[in-house]
Amino acid sequence: MKMTATKTVFASKDYEGAIKEAAAEILRGGLVVFPTETVYGLGANAFDVHAVERIFEAKGRPQDNPLIVHIADMEQLADVAAEVTKTARILMETFWPGPISVIVKKSDKIPDTVSAGLATVAVRMPQNEIARAIIARAGVPVAAPSANTSGKPSPTLAMHAYEDLCGKVPLIIDGGPCSVGVESTVVDATGEVPIVLRPGDITPEMIKRAVGSVKVHKAVLSELAKDEVCASPGMKYKHYAPRANVIVFTGDKKEVAKSINIRYHIDSADSRAAVVLCMDDCTEYYHGCKTVTLGADAKSAEAALFRVLREVDDDGYDNVYFHAQEDVMGLAVMNRIIRAAGHMIVTVKEEKV
Ligand code: TXA
Ligand code: MG
Repeated sequence: MKMTATKTVFASKDYEGAIKEAAAEILRGGLVVFPTETVYGLGANAFDVHAVERIFEAKGRPQDNPLIVHIADMEQLADVAAEVTKTARILMETFWPGPISVIVKKSDKIPDTVSAGLATVAVRMPQNEIARAIIARAGVPVAAPSANTSGKPSPTLAMHAYEDLCGKVPLIIDGGPCSVGVESTVVDATGEVPIVLRPGDITPEMIKRAVGSVKVHKAVLSELAKDEVCASPGMKYKHYAPRANVIVFTGDKKEVAKSINIRYHIDSADSRAAVVLCMDDCTEYYHGCKTVTLGADAKSAEAALFRVLREVDDDGYDNVYFHAQEDVMGLAVMNRIIRAAGHMIVTVKEEKV
Protein backbone atom coordinates (compact mmCIF):
# COMPACT_ATOMS: atom_id res chain seq x y z
CA MET A 1 0.00 0.00 0.00
CA LYS A 2 0.98 3.65 -0.48
CA MET A 3 2.93 5.16 2.46
CA THR A 4 1.46 8.22 4.22
CA ALA A 5 3.03 10.66 6.67
CA THR A 6 1.52 10.01 10.11
CA LYS A 7 0.73 13.00 12.31
CA THR A 8 0.01 12.72 16.04
CA VAL A 9 -2.20 15.31 17.75
CA PHE A 10 -2.32 15.38 21.57
CA ALA A 11 -5.90 15.97 22.71
CA SER A 12 -4.64 17.10 26.13
CA LYS A 13 -2.79 20.00 24.47
CA ASP A 14 -5.30 20.97 21.78
CA TYR A 15 -8.70 19.33 22.37
CA GLU A 16 -10.70 21.42 19.89
CA GLY A 17 -8.04 21.14 17.21
CA ALA A 18 -7.84 17.35 17.65
CA ILE A 19 -11.60 16.89 17.30
CA LYS A 20 -11.81 19.19 14.29
CA GLU A 21 -8.93 17.57 12.44
CA ALA A 22 -10.14 14.04 13.13
CA ALA A 23 -13.68 14.79 11.96
CA ALA A 24 -12.39 16.44 8.78
CA GLU A 25 -10.17 13.45 8.00
CA ILE A 26 -13.10 11.05 8.45
CA LEU A 27 -15.33 13.11 6.14
CA ARG A 28 -12.52 13.19 3.58
CA GLY A 29 -12.62 9.37 3.46
CA GLY A 30 -9.41 8.97 5.47
CA LEU A 31 -8.50 6.89 8.52
CA VAL A 32 -8.08 8.20 12.07
CA VAL A 33 -6.69 6.44 15.14
CA PHE A 34 -8.68 7.67 18.14
CA PRO A 35 -8.92 6.79 21.84
CA THR A 36 -11.85 4.95 23.41
CA GLU A 37 -12.21 3.72 26.99
CA THR A 38 -11.48 0.13 25.87
CA VAL A 39 -8.64 0.28 23.31
CA TYR A 40 -7.61 2.68 20.52
CA GLY A 41 -9.78 2.41 17.41
CA LEU A 42 -8.95 2.80 13.71
CA GLY A 43 -11.94 4.75 12.41
CA ALA A 44 -13.49 5.59 9.06
CA ASN A 45 -16.87 6.86 7.83
CA ALA A 46 -19.12 3.79 8.12
CA PHE A 47 -21.16 4.90 5.08
CA ASP A 48 -18.10 5.19 2.83
CA VAL A 49 -17.20 1.79 1.40
CA HIS A 50 -13.80 2.91 0.07
CA ALA A 51 -12.81 4.38 3.42
CA VAL A 52 -13.85 1.14 5.13
CA GLU A 53 -11.80 -0.91 2.66
CA ARG A 54 -8.75 1.12 3.71
CA ILE A 55 -9.22 -0.05 7.31
CA PHE A 56 -8.90 -3.70 6.26
CA GLU A 57 -5.84 -2.84 4.17
CA ALA A 58 -4.04 -0.85 6.90
CA LYS A 59 -4.61 -3.55 9.53
CA GLY A 60 -4.04 -6.54 7.24
CA ARG A 61 -7.41 -7.74 8.49
CA PRO A 62 -9.23 -10.73 6.95
CA GLN A 63 -12.22 -9.52 4.90
CA ASP A 64 -14.61 -11.88 6.67
CA ASN A 65 -14.17 -10.23 10.09
CA PRO A 66 -16.88 -7.56 10.58
CA LEU A 67 -16.29 -4.12 12.13
CA ILE A 68 -18.02 -2.38 15.05
CA VAL A 69 -19.91 0.81 14.18
CA HIS A 70 -19.51 3.62 16.74
CA ILE A 71 -22.17 6.28 17.32
CA ALA A 72 -22.24 9.45 19.42
CA ASP A 73 -25.94 9.57 20.30
CA MET A 74 -29.19 7.60 19.95
CA GLU A 75 -30.25 9.57 16.87
CA GLN A 76 -27.46 7.96 14.86
CA LEU A 77 -28.74 4.48 15.75
CA ALA A 78 -31.60 4.79 13.24
CA ASP A 79 -29.07 4.96 10.38
CA VAL A 80 -27.23 1.86 11.54
CA ALA A 81 -29.90 -0.56 12.80
CA ALA A 82 -32.91 -1.84 10.86
CA GLU A 83 -34.44 -3.32 14.00
CA VAL A 84 -33.70 -2.95 17.71
CA THR A 85 -35.13 -5.75 19.87
CA LYS A 86 -36.33 -5.20 23.43
CA THR A 87 -33.21 -6.99 24.67
CA ALA A 88 -30.95 -4.70 22.62
CA ARG A 89 -32.81 -1.64 23.88
CA ILE A 90 -32.32 -2.65 27.52
CA LEU A 91 -28.59 -3.23 26.98
CA MET A 92 -28.19 0.18 25.32
CA GLU A 93 -30.19 1.99 28.01
CA THR A 94 -28.30 0.27 30.82
CA PHE A 95 -24.72 0.31 29.59
CA TRP A 96 -24.33 3.10 27.01
CA PRO A 97 -22.25 5.11 26.71
CA GLY A 98 -19.85 2.32 27.64
CA PRO A 99 -17.76 -0.71 26.74
CA ILE A 100 -20.43 -2.94 25.16
CA SER A 101 -21.19 -3.57 21.46
CA VAL A 102 -24.73 -4.68 20.72
CA ILE A 103 -25.46 -6.78 17.63
CA VAL A 104 -28.66 -5.81 15.82
CA LYS A 105 -30.16 -6.21 12.33
CA LYS A 106 -28.22 -4.01 9.90
CA SER A 107 -29.70 -1.03 8.06
CA ASP A 108 -29.20 -0.90 4.27
CA LYS A 109 -27.22 2.30 4.72
CA ILE A 110 -24.33 0.33 6.22
CA PRO A 111 -22.27 -1.28 3.43
CA ASP A 112 -21.77 -5.06 3.43
CA THR A 113 -18.01 -4.49 3.72
CA VAL A 114 -18.56 -3.21 7.29
CA SER A 115 -20.53 -6.28 8.36
CA ALA A 116 -18.46 -8.68 6.23
CA GLY A 117 -21.63 -9.72 4.45
CA LEU A 118 -23.62 -10.49 7.61
CA ALA A 119 -27.22 -9.26 7.95
CA THR A 120 -26.32 -7.92 11.40
CA VAL A 121 -24.06 -5.17 12.68
CA ALA A 122 -22.35 -4.53 16.04
CA VAL A 123 -23.03 -1.00 17.39
CA ARG A 124 -21.35 0.80 20.26
CA MET A 125 -21.63 4.22 21.87
CA PRO A 126 -18.25 4.73 23.57
CA GLN A 127 -17.87 6.39 26.96
CA ASN A 128 -14.67 8.22 26.01
CA GLU A 129 -15.52 11.88 25.40
CA ILE A 130 -12.91 12.43 22.70
CA ALA A 131 -14.34 9.49 20.74
CA ARG A 132 -17.91 10.76 21.02
CA ALA A 133 -16.92 14.33 20.17
CA ILE A 134 -15.14 13.18 16.98
CA ILE A 135 -18.14 11.11 15.86
CA ALA A 136 -20.59 13.91 16.68
CA ARG A 137 -18.49 16.47 14.84
CA ALA A 138 -18.15 14.22 11.77
CA GLY A 139 -21.92 13.63 11.89
CA VAL A 140 -21.58 10.08 10.54
CA PRO A 141 -21.29 6.71 12.31
CA VAL A 142 -17.66 5.56 12.53
CA ALA A 143 -16.64 1.99 11.72
CA ALA A 144 -13.62 1.08 13.84
CA PRO A 145 -11.76 -2.06 14.76
CA SER A 146 -8.91 -1.94 17.29
CA ALA A 147 -5.98 0.09 15.90
CA ASN A 148 -3.43 -2.73 15.84
CA THR A 149 -1.97 -4.81 13.05
CA SER A 150 -4.26 -7.83 12.77
CA GLY A 151 -3.17 -10.56 15.19
CA LYS A 152 -1.14 -8.30 17.51
CA PRO A 153 -2.25 -7.18 21.01
CA SER A 154 -4.78 -4.31 20.86
CA PRO A 155 -3.37 -0.81 21.52
CA THR A 156 -4.04 0.72 24.94
CA LEU A 157 -1.63 3.64 24.33
CA ALA A 158 -1.41 5.85 21.22
CA MET A 159 2.22 4.74 20.96
CA HIS A 160 1.10 1.13 20.37
CA ALA A 161 -1.03 2.21 17.41
CA TYR A 162 1.89 4.29 16.11
CA GLU A 163 4.19 1.23 16.25
CA ASP A 164 1.73 -0.79 14.15
CA LEU A 165 0.28 1.80 11.78
CA CYS A 166 2.93 4.50 11.24
CA GLY A 167 3.07 5.27 7.51
CA LYS A 168 -0.34 3.66 6.95
CA VAL A 169 -2.65 6.25 8.55
CA PRO A 170 -2.57 10.05 8.27
CA LEU A 171 -3.71 10.92 11.81
CA ILE A 172 -3.42 9.62 15.38
CA ILE A 173 -5.29 11.36 18.20
CA ASP A 174 -3.47 10.73 21.48
CA GLY A 175 -5.90 10.72 24.40
CA GLY A 176 -3.66 9.01 26.98
CA PRO A 177 -3.98 5.45 28.31
CA CYS A 178 -7.31 3.60 27.81
CA SER A 179 -9.03 3.19 31.17
CA VAL A 180 -10.56 -0.26 30.59
CA GLY A 181 -7.81 -1.87 28.50
CA VAL A 182 -9.65 -4.79 26.87
CA GLU A 183 -12.08 -4.48 23.97
CA SER A 184 -15.82 -4.11 24.45
CA THR A 185 -18.12 -6.96 25.38
CA VAL A 186 -19.77 -8.14 22.13
CA VAL A 187 -23.36 -9.31 22.64
CA ASP A 188 -25.78 -10.78 20.12
CA ALA A 189 -29.09 -9.12 21.00
CA THR A 190 -31.08 -10.16 17.92
CA GLY A 191 -33.03 -12.71 20.00
CA GLU A 192 -34.64 -12.58 23.43
CA VAL A 193 -31.72 -14.05 25.36
CA PRO A 194 -28.50 -12.04 24.95
CA ILE A 195 -25.48 -14.11 23.92
CA VAL A 196 -21.98 -12.94 24.88
CA LEU A 197 -19.70 -13.56 21.89
CA ARG A 198 -16.68 -11.74 23.32
CA PRO A 199 -16.37 -11.03 27.06
CA GLY A 200 -15.29 -7.59 28.27
CA ASP A 201 -15.56 -5.21 31.19
CA ILE A 202 -19.38 -5.53 31.17
CA THR A 203 -19.69 -9.07 32.56
CA PRO A 204 -22.34 -11.76 31.89
CA GLU A 205 -23.51 -11.23 35.49
CA MET A 206 -24.13 -7.53 34.81
CA ILE A 207 -26.04 -8.37 31.62
CA LYS A 208 -28.13 -10.95 33.43
CA ARG A 209 -29.03 -8.42 36.10
CA ALA A 210 -30.21 -5.96 33.42
CA VAL A 211 -32.01 -8.32 31.03
CA GLY A 212 -32.95 -11.26 33.26
CA SER A 213 -31.05 -13.88 31.23
CA VAL A 214 -27.73 -14.38 29.46
CA LYS A 215 -25.77 -17.02 27.56
CA VAL A 216 -22.04 -17.12 27.00
CA HIS A 217 -20.99 -18.57 23.64
CA LYS A 218 -18.92 -21.71 24.12
CA ALA A 219 -16.11 -20.40 21.90
CA VAL A 220 -15.31 -17.76 24.56
CA LEU A 221 -13.06 -20.19 26.42
CA SER A 222 -12.63 -23.06 24.00
CA GLU A 223 -11.36 -23.66 20.51
CA LEU A 224 -13.78 -24.01 17.62
CA ALA A 225 -13.55 -27.17 15.54
CA LYS A 226 -12.11 -26.47 12.06
CA ASP A 227 -15.42 -26.81 10.21
CA GLU A 228 -17.59 -25.23 12.92
CA VAL A 229 -19.59 -22.13 11.92
CA CYS A 230 -18.64 -19.28 14.22
CA ALA A 231 -21.07 -16.68 15.50
CA SER A 232 -18.41 -14.00 15.71
CA PRO A 233 -15.75 -14.36 13.02
CA GLY A 234 -13.13 -12.63 15.20
CA MET A 235 -13.16 -15.61 17.55
CA LYS A 236 -11.50 -18.00 15.13
CA TYR A 237 -8.22 -16.12 14.65
CA LYS A 238 -5.04 -16.30 16.71
CA HIS A 239 -5.08 -12.92 18.31
CA TYR A 240 -3.38 -10.60 20.76
CA ALA A 241 -0.20 -12.59 20.24
CA PRO A 242 3.27 -11.31 21.05
CA ARG A 243 6.25 -12.78 19.15
CA ALA A 244 7.19 -14.68 22.30
CA ASN A 245 5.75 -18.13 22.82
CA VAL A 246 2.89 -17.94 25.36
CA ILE A 247 1.75 -20.92 27.44
CA VAL A 248 -1.22 -20.68 29.82
CA PHE A 249 -1.20 -22.79 33.00
CA THR A 250 -4.37 -23.47 34.98
CA GLY A 251 -5.21 -25.62 38.00
CA ASP A 252 -4.30 -25.74 41.66
CA LYS A 253 -2.31 -22.59 42.49
CA LYS A 254 0.68 -24.29 44.14
CA GLU A 255 0.90 -27.07 41.56
CA VAL A 256 0.78 -24.55 38.71
CA ALA A 257 3.59 -22.62 40.39
CA LYS A 258 5.68 -25.80 40.66
CA SER A 259 5.22 -26.59 36.96
CA ILE A 260 6.03 -23.07 35.86
CA ASN A 261 9.15 -22.96 38.05
CA ILE A 262 10.41 -26.18 36.45
CA ARG A 263 9.88 -24.84 32.92
CA TYR A 264 11.42 -21.51 33.82
CA HIS A 265 14.60 -23.09 35.17
CA ILE A 266 14.95 -25.41 32.16
CA ASP A 267 14.76 -22.30 29.97
CA SER A 268 17.39 -20.53 32.09
CA ALA A 269 19.74 -23.50 31.83
CA ASP A 270 19.28 -23.46 28.03
CA SER A 271 19.81 -19.65 27.84
CA ARG A 272 16.25 -18.91 26.80
CA ALA A 273 14.74 -15.78 28.34
CA ALA A 274 11.47 -16.55 30.15
CA VAL A 275 9.05 -14.44 32.14
CA VAL A 276 6.13 -15.33 34.42
CA LEU A 277 2.87 -13.34 34.28
CA CYS A 278 0.63 -13.72 37.32
CA MET A 279 -1.66 -11.92 39.73
CA ASP A 280 -0.34 -10.24 42.92
CA ASP A 281 -1.33 -13.12 45.19
CA CYS A 282 0.96 -15.56 43.32
CA THR A 283 4.19 -13.54 43.28
CA GLU A 284 5.34 -15.34 46.45
CA TYR A 285 5.79 -18.54 44.40
CA TYR A 286 8.15 -16.96 41.89
CA HIS A 287 10.99 -15.47 43.93
CA GLY A 288 13.66 -16.95 41.68
CA CYS A 289 11.96 -15.91 38.43
CA LYS A 290 11.55 -12.73 36.42
CA THR A 291 7.89 -11.91 37.08
CA VAL A 292 5.41 -9.31 35.86
CA THR A 293 2.20 -8.94 37.84
CA LEU A 294 -1.17 -7.91 36.44
CA GLY A 295 -2.39 -6.52 39.78
CA ALA A 296 -4.93 -7.78 42.29
CA ASP A 297 -8.24 -8.00 40.41
CA ALA A 298 -10.02 -8.22 37.04
CA LYS A 299 -10.01 -4.44 36.48
CA SER A 300 -6.26 -4.12 36.97
CA ALA A 301 -5.56 -7.24 34.88
CA GLU A 302 -7.69 -5.86 32.01
CA ALA A 303 -5.92 -2.50 32.15
CA ALA A 304 -2.43 -4.07 32.14
CA LEU A 305 -2.73 -7.11 29.86
CA PHE A 306 -2.15 -5.74 26.34
CA ARG A 307 0.58 -3.32 27.45
CA VAL A 308 2.40 -6.16 29.20
CA LEU A 309 2.07 -8.43 26.13
CA ARG A 310 3.76 -5.75 24.03
CA GLU A 311 6.45 -5.17 26.67
CA VAL A 312 7.50 -8.83 26.77
CA ASP A 313 8.42 -8.49 23.10
CA ASP A 314 10.24 -5.20 23.64
CA ASP A 315 12.21 -6.91 26.42
CA GLY A 316 13.11 -9.82 24.12
CA TYR A 317 11.58 -12.74 26.01
CA ASP A 318 11.32 -16.12 24.24
CA ASN A 319 8.78 -17.75 26.54
CA VAL A 320 5.90 -16.34 28.57
CA TYR A 321 4.37 -18.51 31.30
CA PHE A 322 0.96 -17.23 32.24
CA HIS A 323 -0.37 -18.30 35.66
CA ALA A 324 -4.12 -18.17 35.00
CA GLN A 325 -6.72 -17.71 37.75
CA GLU A 326 -10.10 -17.16 36.15
CA ASP A 327 -11.78 -16.32 39.48
CA VAL A 328 -9.29 -13.48 40.10
CA MET A 329 -8.56 -12.13 36.60
CA GLY A 330 -12.02 -12.61 35.09
CA LEU A 331 -13.44 -14.01 31.87
CA ALA A 332 -12.29 -11.19 29.55
CA VAL A 333 -8.61 -11.63 30.42
CA MET A 334 -8.89 -15.45 30.25
CA ASN A 335 -10.45 -15.20 26.78
CA ARG A 336 -7.66 -12.92 25.48
CA ILE A 337 -4.76 -14.87 26.94
CA ILE A 338 -6.04 -18.20 25.60
CA ARG A 339 -6.01 -16.66 22.12
CA ALA A 340 -2.61 -15.04 22.65
CA ALA A 341 -1.35 -18.52 23.50
CA GLY A 342 -2.95 -20.01 20.38
CA HIS A 343 -4.83 -22.35 22.76
CA MET A 344 -1.61 -23.73 24.32
CA ILE A 345 -3.08 -24.52 27.74
CA VAL A 346 -1.54 -26.77 30.37
CA THR A 347 -4.00 -27.97 33.01
CA VAL A 348 -2.03 -28.98 36.10
CA LYS A 349 -3.67 -31.67 38.21
CA GLU A 350 -3.33 -31.73 41.99
CA GLU A 351 -0.80 -34.32 43.09
CA LYS A 352 -2.47 -37.20 44.95
CA VAL A 353 -0.49 -38.63 47.92
O1 TXA B 1 -13.74 -2.04 22.31
C1 TXA B 1 -13.88 -2.30 21.13
O2 TXA B 1 -14.83 -3.02 20.73
C2 TXA B 1 -12.87 -1.73 20.11
C3 TXA B 1 -13.00 -0.20 20.15
C4 TXA B 1 -12.18 0.46 19.06
O3 TXA B 1 -14.33 0.17 20.10
N1 TXA B 1 -13.10 -2.28 18.82
C5 TXA B 1 -12.80 -3.59 18.54
O4 TXA B 1 -13.08 -3.96 17.24
O5 TXA B 1 -12.35 -4.36 19.34
P1 TXA B 1 -12.53 -5.30 16.58
O6 TXA B 1 -12.84 -5.13 15.14
O7 TXA B 1 -11.10 -5.47 16.93
O8 TXA B 1 -13.40 -6.43 17.15
C6 TXA B 1 -14.74 -6.59 16.73
C7 TXA B 1 -15.27 -7.93 17.14
C8 TXA B 1 -14.73 -9.04 16.29
O9 TXA B 1 -14.48 -10.19 17.10
C9 TXA B 1 -15.87 -9.30 15.31
O10 TXA B 1 -15.87 -10.61 14.81
C10 TXA B 1 -17.09 -9.01 16.19
O11 TXA B 1 -16.69 -7.94 17.00
N2 TXA B 1 -18.26 -8.59 15.40
C11 TXA B 1 -18.44 -7.42 14.76
N3 TXA B 1 -19.60 -7.40 14.11
C12 TXA B 1 -20.21 -8.59 14.35
C13 TXA B 1 -21.46 -9.17 13.96
N4 TXA B 1 -22.31 -8.54 13.18
N5 TXA B 1 -21.73 -10.42 14.40
C14 TXA B 1 -20.86 -11.06 15.20
N6 TXA B 1 -19.67 -10.56 15.61
C15 TXA B 1 -19.34 -9.34 15.19
MG1 MG C 1 -9.30 -6.29 17.31
